[in-house]
Amino acid sequence: MFRSHTCGELRLADAGKNVTLAGWVQRARKMGGMTFVDLRDRYGITQLVFNTEVNAELCERANHLGREFVIQVKGTVSERSSKNANIPTGEIEIIVSELNILNSAQTPPFTIEDNTDGGDDLRMKYRYLDLRRSAVRKNLELRHRMTMEVRRYLDSKGFLEVETPMLIGSTPEGARDFVVPSRMNPGQFYALPQSPQTLKQLLMVSGFDRYFQIVKCFRDEDLRADRQPEFTQIDCEMSFVEQEDIINTFEGMAKHLFKELRGVELTEPFLRMPWADAMKYYGSDKPDLRFGMKFVELMDVLKGYGFSVFDNAAYIGGICAEGAAHYTRKQLDQLTEFVKRPQIGAKGMVYARIEADGTVKSSVDKFYSQEVLQKMKEAFGAKPGDLILILSGDDAMKTRKQLCELRLEMGNQLGLRDKNKFACLWVVDFPMFEWSEEEGRLMAMHHPFTHPKDEDIPLLDTDPAAVRADAYDMVINGVEVGGGSIRIHDSALQAKMFEILGFTPEKAQEQFGFLMNAFKFGAPPHGGLAYGLDRWVSLFAGLDSIRDCIAFPKNNSGRDVMLDAPGFLDQKQLDELNLKIDIKENN
Ligand code: AMO
Repeated sequence: MFRSHTCGELRLADAGKNVTLAGWVQRARKMGGMTFVDLRDRYGITQLVFNTEVNAELCERANHLGREFVIQVKGTVSERSSKNANIPTGEIEIIVSELNILNSAQTPPFTIEDNTDGGDDLRMKYRYLDLRRSAVRKNLELRHRMTMEVRRYLDSKGFLEVETPMLIGSTPEGARDFVVPSRMNPGQFYALPQSPQTLKQLLMVSGFDRYFQIVKCFRDEDLRADRQPEFTQIDCEMSFVEQEDIINTFEGMAKHLFKELRGVELTEPFLRMPWADAMKYYGSDKPDLRFGMKFVELMDVLKGYGFSVFDNAAYIGGICAEGAAHYTRKQLDQLTEFVKRPQIGAKGMVYARIEADGTVKSSVDKFYSQEVLQKMKEAFGAKPGDLILILSGDDAMKTRKQLCELRLEMGNQLGLRDKNKFACLWVVDFPMFEWSEEEGRLMAMHHPFTHPKDEDIPLLDTDPAAVRADAYDMVINGVEVGGGSIRIHDSALQAKMFEILGFTPEKAQEQFGFLMNAFKFGAPPHGGLAYGLDRWVSLFAGLDSIRDCIAFPKNNSGRDVMLDAPGFLDQKQLDELNLKIDIKENN
């Protein structure tokens, strides 16, 4: 062994001990005849002391240590005269008697400290150095503890961890697949799983009534702060259960994780909100309930007074920001610019302040009498000092989504989205289908294996758009941390679903025959859910992006800048795979 102790463990009680430590030189500083070195490893930092008066030659060697050199020292633990209360080892230092340089290091491209001087791109390129920083390392430690707790919980409930293949067939529903050419089957491709959905259902047919897997999933979709092209699911499935059983089991797991990893005891059952309400009151299927500002619809209150923007709108709605009447004209203009950004797409914003005497002063005063404005105030239950913000539009759903962005922005600006506060809920009763403009047909909102609500099955023939699904998402602080559904286990109903989704019987057989045929051999009723591990960890760690809890993440263009991937193949490899590259101009 190169060391007797780690750099994080020595305390005052160890004073006088002879120890051997090994690690990286975080920094070295010369002060008079003394040289101090901060030695770092995974566990912490310990101060080393070299004294010219005691050993001039050793001290001279210490003066030549560079940042990130890997060294081993032998020495004695001693009480520090000037203690550092910020680190656990701050009461001691090591009086060094022997120094071995195990490896030298080039000057790193950024400082490996909590407040680094390295920008995002640089840190991604040298991710192995970034991971030496304790802020990043702590996220991976949390991730490890989380997977351990997940395994412990699920094992205690009789779940069996089963691996499923990474090289599977491409399926047409869902996001775009990442595909892998097959050398042995010229012209044919595997796809990497977007999730092990059909495979876990087949395991239910096989009788593994409680399955889970901590598994990589791959989706070729546009990236965002909470999306990576490869990410990890805690994928679960159960047989002989109803929606209530699944919700209870996985709400139990969520509470277990909160308790073990954050020390937060959640005793109340999680709120359940129908999808229709989530959209109506928050404009989102993943509402952030850490704060209020519930939407108030104003069609009845504000339509018909000659303000053409509202008179012609299909939706008028607003939010009330408590105590925000102090917003200046400039701040309100900035909010208007915010909602007009192309990503949000609102045409404009109307505002109203509630004055100290209760009167309402709005940006559209010339169209509305104080009486009407008072009615609006009542609709919000607004008080003096509050600020009302209103959007309208000719598409109710689009306008609600815009209002959702405004609500979240106001939540940010008013400091209402506290990372140490957690608002958990289940969004339930999702629609079975959603209309895709791009495809010109109905698409499954969750996936095509989702069971419709029993009472809505007759609507499949008459009004499929009105059918609700036995599907549920868990949402925490505005993030979808998991989702699942009860599945169809009847091959005839599954075939009908594919028909509604626009598959011919032949195409459905070609793409999903393996599943529909399996259902003919005795499929139990089943359902499940998948949690997004990366999202859970970043929620618990208070991160803004899931990238920070992934050891080697991709950037926003889906590139691994450290490995410089994806990359081109050489001709020999292309020939072996029977591939010809023809890059179109507009790429
Ligand atoms: P779904 O597509 O909702 O369901 O995914 C489940 C959960 O995985 C997480 N997630 C992601 N995390 C990071 N990056 C991504 N690109 C990404 N996409 C999804 C989310 C999400 O809630 N097979 C079904 C589950 C089931 O029905 O059992 C599925 O994959 O937290």
